[in-house]
Amino acid sequence: MTECVPPPWRAAAVTALRTHGEDETRRAAARFSRRLLPGDVVALHGELGTGKTRFVQGIAEGFGVAHRVTSPTFTLIQEYAGGRLPLFHFDLYRIDDPRELEEIGYEEYLFGEGVTCIEWAERMGDLLPDRYYRVMLRFGENDEDRLITIEKAEAASASGGRLEGGDRP
Ligand SMILES: Nc1ncnc2c1ncn2[C@@H]1O[C@H](COP(=O)(O)OP(=O)(O)OP(=O)(O)O)[C@@H](O)[C@H]1O
Ligand SMILES: [Mg+2]
Repeated sequence: MTECVPPPWRAAAVTALRTHGEDETRRAAARFSRRLLPGDVVALHGELGTGKTRFVQGIAEGFGVAHRVTSPTFTLIQEYAGGRLPLFHFDLYRIDDPRELEEIGYEEYLFGEGVTCIEWAERMGDLLPDRYYRVMLRFGENDEDRLITIEKAEAASASGGRLEGGDRP
């Protein structure tokens, strides 16, 4: 039987691209980074090794962050200053309970003046904000191929207007 439940979020402005090799993924992310504004959240979804960290590296490069972005697996959050906007990088792979985020004051990042990128964003549960960019990475046909979609997601509860159209990253 098919359940008929309204989706918890609506999506618009989908960009779909295929990259070959990590450099192309980083460049695509750097182009996408130009449209990011203070307070924006980028939720990254995709299996292990699909390129979520590479995508965040590209955003950092687009911002002009001098430090190399690595996976903050053991720290949960890493901050990168010195770019066009402050960049906060969450990696929730090892999180057991979204409440751990409350303990570290995640709202200060999410609702602050920087841009927050979240790997394994689905582990955040309902702490994800009402509006965010949803980036989905999938393996492609060949080893170095990745299929990437970028969409603007908005919680159904946050509706009240149409989502804006988007441009290509
Ligand atoms: N088109 C591509 N885009 C991105 N990465 C690629 C691509 N082709 C090959 N790769 C390789 O895939 C790996 C992606 O690693 P990355 O750490 O970014 O993945 P991840 O999604 O962050 O994984 P994890 O879930 O472990 O954090 C790298 O080794 C990179 O060189
Ligand atoms: Mg990673």
